[in-house]
Amino acid sequence: MAELLRVEELSKSYQQKGFWLQKQITTVLEPISFSIQAHKTLAIIGETGSGKSTLAKLLVGAEPASSGNIHLNGQVLRDGSYKQRCQHIRMIFQDSGTTLNPSLTILQLLDEPLKLNTPFNEKKRKELIRTTLQKVGLLGDHMNFYPHMFSGGQKQRISLARAIILQPQVIILDEALAALDPSLRSQMINLLLDLQQQMGLAYILISHNLGIIRHFSDDIMVLSQGKVVESGKTLDVMNKPQHKVTQKLLMSQNFQLKSKKI
Ligand SMILES: Nc1ncnc2c1ncn2[C@@H]1O[C@H](COP(=O)(O)OP(=O)(O)OP(=O)(O)O)[C@@H](O)[C@H]1O
Ligand SMILES: [Mg+2]
Repeated sequence: MAELLRVEELSKSYQQKGFWLQKQITTVLEPISFSIQAHKTLAIIGETGSGKSTLAKLLVGAEPASSGNIHLNGQVLRDGSYKQRCQHIRMIFQDSGTTLNPSLTILQLLDEPLKLNTPFNEKKRKELIRTTLQKVGLLGDHMNFYPHMFSGGQKQRISLARAIILQPQVIILDEALAALDPSLRSQMINLLLDLQQQMGLAYILISHNLGIIRHFSDDIMVLSQGKVVESGKTLDVMNKPQHKVTQKLLMSQNFQLKSKKI
């Protein structure tokens, strides 16, 4: 299958003021390369501060990279091309439900990206909003509701609707399932897997929950202090972790492959 997203030597450093106004450069992500195919899920794990969210921000274009390239379908994404990029690569955060603007209806919330990125008229946009809400397991008529009228799990579905409405190719989930209770989490995972099948989505799944990672992802990349220390097929890495950081992460969750459920 063809490569959808290819990342080449992507890195991030921050410049901070040190003593006596000297500039100090901190590298939070060393040059990193990987690729993903459509329909696949790449999991990224690593201890806190290892650079996972930084990588996500570079991929969606929320922060400029210090070096490297991102190719989508063989085309390089430029730093300035935020509009083009946010159409194809979308991100869902842990608390994205709570970041829905409370003064807007779901119709208005979902209409924003459509107005900005599509030439569709009002009727067509409304139609698309209705079918997208249905796709994520909500009702078309929910478009007239305000965010506070939904539960946490439903809000997460609205964030998902907002993420998929522009027919993206890649969705990044940065701890997006962490705030949900286990039964809602399983429902959301099943929904994400269904959408992946239907739409050919590639997911980048950042999570501390190794049960979810094992159930959900095809490949895995382990970050430590901004470097990839181990990568491969999820089951291979989880069955036989080679690097001590991976071993520690698995041990810390007392992760036993055969007995652990999500
Ligand atoms: N704007 C910034 N300026 C300087 N350093 C930053 C900035 N943003 C992030 N960092 C640093 O980059 C490092 C990586 O942070 P990042 O948020 O990517 O970690 P993470 O792996 O997502 O951690 P967590 O699992 O806790 O979410 C941290 O040490 C953080 O302090
Ligand atoms: Mg993070």
